[in-house]
Formats: sequence, structure tokens, C-alpha cells
Amino acid sequence: FLLHCRAWPARYTFVVENTPYKRLCSTKNILTVNGQFPGPTLYAHKGDTIIVDVINKGNRNITLHWHGVSQPRYPWSDGPEYITQCPIQPGAKFTQKIIFSEEEGTLWWHAHSEWDRATVHGPIIIYPNKNNKYPFAKPHAEIPIILGEWWKMDIGKLYTQTIQSGGDPNTSDAYLINGQPGDLYPCSKSETFKLMVDYGKTYLLRLINSGVQEILFFAIANHKVTVVGTDASYTKPFTTDYVTISPGQTIDLLLHANQRPNHYYMAATAYVGGAVPYDNTTTTALLQYTNRGYTPSSTPLFPNLPAHNDTSASVHFSRSLRSLADKNHPIDVPLKITTPLFYTVSVNTFQCPNNSCAGPNGTRLAASINNISFESPSIDILQAYYYHVNGVFGTRFPSSPPLLFNFTAQYLPQYLQTPKQKTEVKVLEYNATVELVLQGTNLVAGDDHPMHLHGYSFYVVGLGLGNFDKDKDPLKYNLVDPPLQNTIAVPVNGWATIRFKADNPGVWFMHCHLDRHMSWGMDTTFIVKNGKGPEAQILPPPPDMPPC
Ligand code: C2O
Ligand code: CU
Repeated sequence: FLLHCRAWPARYTFVVENTPYKRLCSTKNILTVNGQFPGPTLYAHKGDTIIVDVINKGNRNITLHWHGVSQPRYPWSDGPEYITQCPIQPGAKFTQKIIFSEEEGTLWWHAHSEWDRATVHGPIIIYPNKNNKYPFAKPHAEIPIILGEWWKMDIGKLYTQTIQSGGDPNTSDAYLINGQPGDLYPCSKSETFKLMVDYGKTYLLRLINSGVQEILFFAIANHKVTVVGTDASYTKPFTTDYVTISPGQTIDLLLHANQRPNHYYMAATAYVGGAVPYDNTTTTALLQYTNRGYTPSSTPLFPNLPAHNDTSASVHFSRSLRSLADKNHPIDVPLKITTPLFYTVSVNTFQCPNNSCAGPNGTRLAASINNISFESPSIDILQAYYYHVNGVFGTRFPSSPPLLFNFTAQYLPQYLQTPKQKTEVKVLEYNATVELVLQGTNLVAGDDHPMHLHGYSFYVVGLGLGNFDKDKDPLKYNLVDPPLQNTIAVPVNGWATIRFKADNPGVWFMHCHLDRHMSWGMDTTFIVKNGKGPEAQILPPPPDMPPC
């Protein structure tokens, strides 16, 4: 009732520190914010600006990113290491400013250095501004549901081991719901997350996939859910038995507690389109009716989750997302394209001396966009761009792959596998209207790639399997009510087309949100130039940018 009148703090302190946590019968130190795992929630209203004082009391370099917040004209606080800042060193501080503009709904924040986001993450909840309401009836309660992954191993070690061995990382030891594996795992039963509901009421679940390696299916036994938003943009409500959620993505859904009072499982498990190792376990939480006087079934009912390799279930879900596109939520999809781009996203390999690495045939695994495997610079690209430091990056990122081949053929010649290693950016004119076709390939192993763009949300106008057909597929684009997202899972051996208007000057990272692919080089950067006039310029940097 007082929801939209409550005053949220406009300033937060985030202390990054090591904290012992016990999961799966053993305790380890993990990096947390303020000792919490999952981390604290940030609250805002649409259009607010909030300040976060980040203090690094951990023993590793760190950066923090506000995933899906466009940060208009202010890339300085965006967070990806060596793209918009150098890391915050142990003992150092950095004050970050989070500027909300169009986003409304659920987003999240996470570490953007190595794979520390495995434990350093939390929700961002953005309410409508004071004069507005949700485009659906006010729910009885709102509950963040944070899906994640747990390793018994130290995350820093997991990262280093993966990079050094050149092979696939160890798979996780458990998936998590709100930090808990649930009662299918050892030593986890008593801590299982429990959602208590009153019969007849409606709940808003703010679902976040904070996971490092896997796209997940999520479902609740006997309950359909109604999707009402994704990536802090409302969708036309649609009712479904399951959702597919990529690392990086958020989904808002309504749960109607309208089933026979009982206890039910909600569960999540991997969706894996490619032939890659994955954690095949299932995490659970409980949905329990508060009503008295019923006898619960001896064990909670279990939901039907699609099979782990059910690509059509995953694609079907992605295609069901539609913008509201009504008069209060108009869409603004670019219709005239000034800058058509075609990017292939691939897993690759590099030769190792004496075939000594743990990738296929002794190679080390790599990944690329348009056959360029992104090489991290030693000072951040934003700083180099802003202060005209030469030699840090090139501006020749290709608009299309250097070689056209049958991207999704079952067998592809080995010589296509080796990418170039470079730090190249794509420069966009201010207000360019960009169409980007993201094409998956079957090099090494086809896989789904949840591609995430910083600084913008984009319209997903098309998505399909196989090779993109430039004559036929555009005829089927949805230009009427395409969903507005910041992360899109390019299906295994398939494609997705996104559109956005480059009206946010700055340096903006784009990458696969599977951390192994990100670290192997499935990354690129856009520099969006300043436009004319003071409203079209990057704002000046804060005085305390972390030094390199
Ligand atoms: Cu959620 Cu570049 O990240
Ligand atoms: Cu990927």
C-alpha cells in the first residue's frame, strides 16, 4: 500500500570481504558483499540515481557491475574490468553512481572481475516512479528468487585452473535457490528456501539467474506461472509451466496460490544445448500453503522440468516474450537501420606447445566473435579512449565475419577453428540505428550463448535455428512487440537479431554471459561517439577512478 511512497536509501555501503559459508557439508571462505550471500538488494524507483561506496576488504582485485542499468552517459561506474575501469585493489575504495533511466522491474548487480560473480551478486529492484503503478494487479508480496551455482572449490582457483589447463572448467557441485541447494543435496535439507503462501493470493517472483555456467529451466509443481517482465521491461502476460532463464537474465512472474493447500517443490536444473560437460543435478525450494487443517502429502510434489537438452522448449520460451507495447509502454524499435552488423559467436581452440593443454587434441579452448578472440588490455578502454592513450585498442572490429562458411554444419574443417587474438572495438556514430545478427557456429562444440550488452537494452526482433537467411528471416521479424532485453540466449547452432539506437555515448562491453566463454574471448566492445550538444556527451569521470 505504501510501496510507492517509501523512501529507499539513496546511498549504500558495499564492503567486499571474505566470509565463511557452509554448503554441501563443508565450509569455505567466499567473497561476499557485507557478509551476505546472496548479497544485499538495491532498491530504486524508475529514474533514480543511487550511490554505492564500494570498499574492497577482500584479498583480490574486484569490480562491480549493475547488470542491465544503462548508465546514461556515465560508463565510469559500469564496472567491467579493463573495459571501463581498472580493478579496485585490496584495501581500496571506489564510489559508484548508478543512474536509472528507462528500466523498471528486476535487475541485479555482480562482480565483473574473473569469476567472482559466482558469490558476489544481489538483486536490484526498480519500482515504478511515484505516479505510476505496475501494469498488473498489485501482488500480495514480492519475493526475489536468485538462482545460482555452488562449487566446493575456491572460485579464484577454479578460474585459474580453467585458464591454465586450457580445458573445460569443473562443473558446479550444486545449483542454488536463494543461496541454498535444497533437500536433494547432502546436508542441505534444513536450510532449504521456503516460500509460504496464502491460498487465493498472488505473489510476484523476481527471478534472477546469477549462475556462472548454465542456462536453467525453472518450474513449480502443479502451478503455472504468468510471466510479466524480463530484464526490467514489462511483457505481455503469458502463462507457462516452466521458464528458461540465462545467466544474466531476470524474469518477473506472478504466482497464483490457487492449488490445493499442500507443499510443493520449485526446482531448477540445467538446459544445455551443446555437447559440453554440465552439472546435471537439480536444486529445490519449497512452496508451502499457510492454510491450517490440511494434511500435506508425505513428500512435496515435484514439477515437470523439460529435458536438459530440450532446445525447442528453450527457444519456445524465448519466443513467447513480447513487449507490452501499449500506450503507457510504447516501444521504440528502430525501423531504418544505419548500421547492419553480423557477428558470429564461436568456441575455438589455440594450439599449445607439444599439444600439452587440456582442450580437444591437446589444444586450449578459446572463443571468439567474428573470429576475433578478445584480448583484455592492461589499462581500461574507456580511459584510453577518453584521454587519447594510443596503442591500447584498435578500431577495426569487423562488421561481419572474415569468412562465410556453413556456420552450423555438422562437421567443420579444423582450419576454421583458430581465431585471431586482438583488442578491437566497433565505433558507432551517436544515434546510429544498429541491427546486429548474432550467429552461433558449430566450431569445436555448438552451444547456446547468452549474449549481454552493456549500456543498452535492445529489442530482440528475431530468433531461429540453423544459419540466418538474410532474404527470408527478416520477413519474419517482430517489429510490433519485440521484447526489450539486455541478455539474449543465441540458440545452439542458431541465431538472434537485436536492434538498438546508439544514443548512449560511452564504452560498452558485449559478451557471452557464460563465464568460461567470456574468459576465452567471446567478447567485444562498442565505442559510441559523442553527439552534438551537451546532452549527447559522456559525463566527466569521478575523481576516484581506480588506478591501474
Ligand atoms: Cu552481467 Cu558484463 O555482465
Ligand atoms: Cu557463450
